[in-house]
Amino acid sequence: MNTAEAVRAALEAAGWAPSVHNSQPWAFAVAGEEISLRADTGRGLRFADPDGRQLLISCGAALFNLRTALLCAGFDAAVRVLPDPDRPALLATVRVGGGAVADEHTRTLRAEIERRRTHRAGFTDLPVPDRLVDGLVREAAEEGARLTPVRAPGDVRMVAALTVAAQQAQVRDRLLALDVVRWARPPGSARADGVPADAYPSGPVRVAAGFAQRDYAWRHDWGARQLGRGQHSPGVLALITTPGDGPGAWIAAGQALQRSLLHAAAHGVSAAFHTQPLEMHHLREFLRQELCEGAYPQMIIRFGITFDAGGAVRRSLPEVLG
Ligand SMILES: Cc1cc2nc3c(=O)[nH]c(=O)nc-3n(C[C@H](O)[C@H](O)[C@H](O)COP(=O)(O)O)c2cc1C
Repeated sequence: MNTAEAVRAALEAAGWAPSVHNSQPWAFAVAGEEISLRADTGRGLRFADPDGRQLLISCGAALFNLRTALLCAGFDAAVRVLPDPDRPALLATVRVGGGAVADEHTRTLRAEIERRRTHRAGFTDLPVPDRLVDGLVREAAEEGARLTPVRAPGDVRMVAALTVAAQQAQVRDRLLALDVVRWARPPGSARADGVPADAYPSGPVRVAAGFAQRDYAWRHDWGARQLGRGQHSPGVLALITTPGDGPGAWIAAGQALQRSLLHAAAHGVSAAFHTQPLEMHHLREFLRQELCEGAYPQMIIRFGITFDAGGAVRRSLPEVLG
């Protein structure tokens, strides 16, 4: 693979990152040997994410894919995060060098980039091995964030209750609800972004294993009826936290998120997200004080095993090249 082919493949890999509501809020530019990653703020959630926290987490996940794909194509990736204080939307530059050799573990992660999918229901009763959970903690730590499993049943119930409370509050708030509705894809939609109707549950009850699902179907008869059928386990609950809060921390959280998701996927373990409480300042603050020892919660995730397979869409490369 020559440099141009490797860059192209890496940009395509970047696009397969998870992003809040599949908003894909990133834009790339290539100049010589340098790739720049910018935040596409027009794709942000105006009301649910006014500071761009989830937007930058999403871009951090894309950055991890970009680096990993370059490395596996034999190219070194020298990353500078937030390189220019005068240009806050410039999230990272990646200088593509030569002569890199990816180890086997990195290749394993690379192989999952296009395969990994978000789950939106309960999991089967099949256990997630403790050794794997330890591995997820290590993967996140490599990227400068902390992944903490929440094991105590009372704590799991408390986080689940926060997701239900936040979800109920959000569907009553017209502006917050609009931020979700904007990204819900109707069945048969030709859009290249947003959450596909076969990837979110239908039906009036959207609480799986005690955790509230986002209401993408919102007042429509949309969504997958079979999703999570017979799967009632919450799986293993985990929080991703960072010691500080701000753009650098959010990008690190995104890289840590994606690294742990790919590691999980490589072991047949899927992830479900419930970030609604983190969109409400007082609930996020409560979680920070109660469960995060003062660190800042960035993601709420359940890891588990499912055989469901929802669809996925992404924008094409010309659309993300600025
Ligand atoms: C910061 C962030 C927050 C997310 N929050 C949620 C959530 O609350 N509920 C949910 O179902 N999915 C959530 N997701 C998952 C996205 O909806 C998902 O990544 C996107 O639709 C693309 O689908 P895929 O992950 O299957 O490729 C979140 C993803 C990110 C990066």
